Amino acid sequence: MDNYRQIFKRKSFHIFKNTGKLADEDIEKLEIFIQSVEPLDPQIRTKICIVPESETTCRRGAEYCILFYSETKDEYLKNIGYMGEQIDLYLASEDIGALWFGIGKPKNMLLDGLDYVIMLSIAKMSEDKFRKDMFKSKRKPVDEIWIGETMNVAEIVRFAPSACNTQPWMFENTGKELLIYRYKKPGKRGIMPVDKVSYYNKIDMGIFLCMLEICLEHEGILFERALLADASDNSAEKTFIARYRYQI
Ligand SMILES: Cc1cc2nc3c(=O)[nH]c(=O)nc-3n(C[C@H](O)[C@H](O)[C@H](O)COP(=O)(O)O)c2cc1C
Repeated sequence: MDNYRQIFKRKSFHIFKNTGKLADEDIEKLEIFIQSVEPLDPQIRTKICIVPESETTCRRGAEYCILFYSETKDEYLKNIGYMGEQIDLYLASEDIGALWFGIGKPKNMLLDGLDYVIMLSIAKMSEDKFRKDMFKSKRKPVDEIWIGETMNVAEIVRFAPSACNTQPWMFENTGKELLIYRYKKPGKRGIMPVDKVSYYNKIDMGIFLCMLEICLEHEGILFERALLADASDNSAEKTFIARYRYQI
């Protein structure tokens, strides 16, 4: 799979219409892919399972939902975002439409002692329903989120999905390192319940790091990742969450 190409193709299917049906082989292949997903932190126990949409509160016309469960320790939200985005991109490569569905709940909020975190709702779609021109999607301009040389990375990674399209990220390129921040505009409050903003935005940052690494690799930029604890709630404007030392 060419992950980079899927960044341009993926989109959120807020409502699934004119869906196909996923064959047993599609699900088997997906399960195999899920086993190969890389975590940000292998010390955090996680489980990912696929259930029919009817076993969740999702009513968007999806066929299945991929449920993410995790130990709720350290950087677990970032870790789930990072893992889930690999799956989101895989799904696009297989013409399976997906939606990160934050407001959804499954029947079982616990699985083998792990807490439910979030789901991806999915359904088979025809290829022509996917994104044709990513640059028409609504996103913050590069100069609002990135300081320094953009490296052909800023231009693309800004299209990462985020809860309510909040795009809670900021970067600084020092020439040797990319400094990455979770950003919350002071006083700004969108449609999300205030206590949920930092929860979802921490998942968003994991999604974002997944796409960032794909973009860096695509540009042939070698990097070393260092993660920082993201313990702050939403009162801080900028929380430093990762540093990528790089070499061109
Ligand atoms: C963590 C997360 C939670 C989301 N939750 C919902 C949701 O509950 N309902 C929904 O319709 N869309 C949800 N979305 C989808 C976003 O609205 C969507 O990704 C964003 O508007 C960008 O659009 P795009 O994914 O088509 O590029 C969520 C996305 C993320 C990343």
